[in-house]
Amino acid sequence: MKKVLIISASPRKGGNSDTLCNKFMFGAREAGHEVEKVFLRDKNINSCVGCGLCTTNDYTACSQKDDMEEILQKMLTANVIVMATPVYFYAISGQMKTFIDRCCSRYTKLTNKEFYFIATAADPNREALENTFNDFRGFTSCLEGAVEKGCIYGCGVWAKDDITRTQLLDEAYHMGLSV
Ligand SMILES: Cc1cc2nc3c(=O)[nH]c(=O)nc-3n(C[C@H](O)[C@H](O)[C@H](O)COP(=O)(O)O)c2cc1C
Repeated sequence: MKKVLIISASPRKGGNSDTLCNKFMFGAREAGHEVEKVFLRDKNINSCVGCGLCTTNDYTACSQKDDMEEILQKMLTANVIVMATPVYFYAISGQMKTFIDRCCSRYTKLTNKEFYFIATAADPNREALENTFNDFRGFTSCLEGAVEKGCIYGCGVWAKDDITRTQLLDEAYHMGLSV
């Protein structure tokens, strides 16, 4: 059994990327894994202020006291981390970027994790999502032993429930099942 943590970073709860997260979660639970989803908009996460305190305490603490500490603890114990975002101007959402920056206070401890990436966009072309996946890869390239296990290209979905008319729900479910 693995511990799976899903980070859902759309401002729209029940939107396309969040729905894919739910399908992934159902699949992974069906496979017997322990799965938890964090919806970032429900959390109070301030921007990194670049104070550098974490660099002086061997990445064990942050100067800011908000909900990030609780999420970092979940990340530290997870074997698998799923990161999901809507595509905003061909990049990750602001919520996801703020979250990633705040991982600075523990990033050297986030070792040997498996990663899955989910992105949804109105653009119907898969290549259009590559820049967004590269944003995720910029983060994971800084983590020792990080392994990218899969990506879901949620192309051609604009309105909140467009995703329900696609095969992507099945793909997310099966990806979760195969964790
Ligand atoms: C601020 C904003 C910027 C967007 N930028 C893009 C974009 O650059 N390319 C694109 O294909 N879709 C873009 N979209 C559309 C969203 O990516 C699309 O609606 C996606 O399905 C949203 O995912 P969600 O339902 O999980 O929030 C944008 C939407 C918003 C609100």
